Amino acid sequence: MHLMMRNCVNLKIWLLNLVTLSSILSLSHGRTLHQEFQVRAVNLGGWLVAEGWMKPSLFDGIPNKDFLDGTGLQFKSVTTRKYLCAESGGGTIIVANRTSASGWETFSLWRLNEDTFRFRVFNKQFVGLDGINIVAVSNISTDSLTFNVVKESGSSSRVRIKASNGYFLQAKTEDLVTADVSEVKGWGDDDPSVFVMTIAGRMQGEFQVTNGYGPTKAPQVMKEHWSSFIVEDDFKFIASDGLNAVRIPIGWWIASDPTPPPPYVGGSLNALDNAFLWAQKYGLKIILDLHAAPGSQNGYEHSSSRDGSQEWGKTDENIHQTVQVIDFLTARYAKSPSLYAVELINEPLSPGVTLERLIKYYKAGYEAVRKHSSTAYVVLSNRLGPSNLRELFPLANGLMRSVIDVHYYNLYQDVFNDMNVQQNIDFIYNNRSLQLSTITTSNGPLTFVGEWVAEWQVKGATKEEYQRFAKAQLDVYGRATFGWAYWAFKNVNNHWSLEWMITNGYIEL
Ligand SMILES: *[C@@H]1O[C@H](CO)[C@@H](O)[C@H](O)[C@H]1NC(C)=O
Ligand SMILES: *[C@@H]1O[C@H](CO)[C@@H](O)[C@H](O)[C@H]1NC(C)=O
Ligand SMILES: *[C@@H]1O[C@H](CO)[C@@H](O)[C@H](O)[C@H]1NC(C)=O
Repeated sequence: MHLMMRNCVNLKIWLLNLVTLSSILSLSHGRTLHQEFQVRAVNLGGWLVAEGWMKPSLFDGIPNKDFLDGTGLQFKSVTTRKYLCAESGGGTIIVANRTSASGWETFSLWRLNEDTFRFRVFNKQFVGLDGINIVAVSNISTDSLTFNVVKESGSSSRVRIKASNGYFLQAKTEDLVTADVSEVKGWGDDDPSVFVMTIAGRMQGEFQVTNGYGPTKAPQVMKEHWSSFIVEDDFKFIASDGLNAVRIPIGWWIASDPTPPPPYVGGSLNALDNAFLWAQKYGLKIILDLHAAPGSQNGYEHSSSRDGSQEWGKTDENIHQTVQVIDFLTARYAKSPSLYAVELINEPLSPGVTLERLIKYYKAGYEAVRKHSSTAYVVLSNRLGPSNLRELFPLANGLMRSVIDVHYYNLYQDVFNDMNVQQNIDFIYNNRSLQLSTITTSNGPLTFVGEWVAEWQVKGATKEEYQRFAKAQLDVYGRATFGWAYWAFKNVNNHWSLEWMITNGYIEL
């Protein structure tokens, strides 16, 4: 995944080390806390909030689909043989003097149409002009130039960059990049307007798919996806295979259906209405999960970030807007016997989301749920990144029917790279069980392992090994007092599809 993901990984390791052993209750104690009803759920991920890795075909029909919002491009000048770079990460000039490429040398796309883009740099400024010099100083997208990337025919990587002032960019020297070339000829190695382009990162979320198809095609494509990816028969399957609930990731734009702000398109609310009808018919509970909050709470594609930015929670207005989404959804479904819980936000990422801002939101979001429902559980997601496992306790202890959500993947951290089968399983029985008991207390909030999967870094594992890994997780996560939810129900990657895992005998409930 992205650079950001790597940082997050290191932070997660740090977080593991933070667990204080002194405050741990015994598991047997935890067991006595069991609710009568324990959630055994599956996440309907990739449905109402798109994720390209789960269903790549959803993106297949996008014109120029390599150039979506958030795609990270790097450009190596053929004359300086060095990379374009936002000096200092942004706030000043663009140079062409870096021998290797990383964050400052990556230009993130904003897609205006299939071949017109803005470029955003590491510190979030947009690329623009100062005279004829290329700079990255403005925070305002509309102050920036727009660009076309002109490819050499037959070559996937040699390009020219044409700015909206009509001129091509050139790396005049290592520290002077200008937009002042009006006529070009050929693709020679002595031509300072020629660059070798590398795609360093991609994002495939809801913003990318809807903006990629554009306003005419996106409504059709998304409607087709919503009506085919999850259908009534899936609810029937879920109910008859030992599960009793679904966790449904949704995006903030659903609250302004049928006319959400572009590029989002209307229709996901109708799909969610269907989910409530089917859940009621088959006796399933629903956990609504605000997976994508306005501005993105973690910068990932799964929270519908446009370009990796994380803007959620920074202003009171933004928090208020998010509370309105919770208010709207709870009001709409409070009368359904299937509404079991409302998760106020999924995976807010520290340090971008501060504890103070998050608690401010959680208090207001809780009140919004309680306005319409005295029985729905209110799920508070722990922060990813540097944070204390029990940091939400002071808040949660004062709330009725509150739940702490944690996500356990034996992935995304270097520590898992070299683990063998048994080490992965031991990690579940030792480390995960310790983490879970750290947050499972006699008088505190309930605990929920809201995402987990029987997938790991082990290559070529046998079916029997997968079965043991899944069973270990079911054993341990079965001690969560609220319950657990597998990620996900449908996924082209088989082990990430609970439907596939059950049908093929990898998981038995
Ligand atoms: C751009 O935003 C950054 C971060 O919010 C801020 O520090 C900087 O002063 C802003 N620059 C301008 C030119 O407004
Ligand atoms: C690149 O050029 C800028 C501007 O002249 C300079 O400040 C910086 O030190 C140079 N960096 C390298 C690695 O040469
Ligand atoms: C897992 O727990 C064991 C025993 O407490 C500890 O030695 C080990 O470092 C932990 N592993 C990780 C990756 O945190």
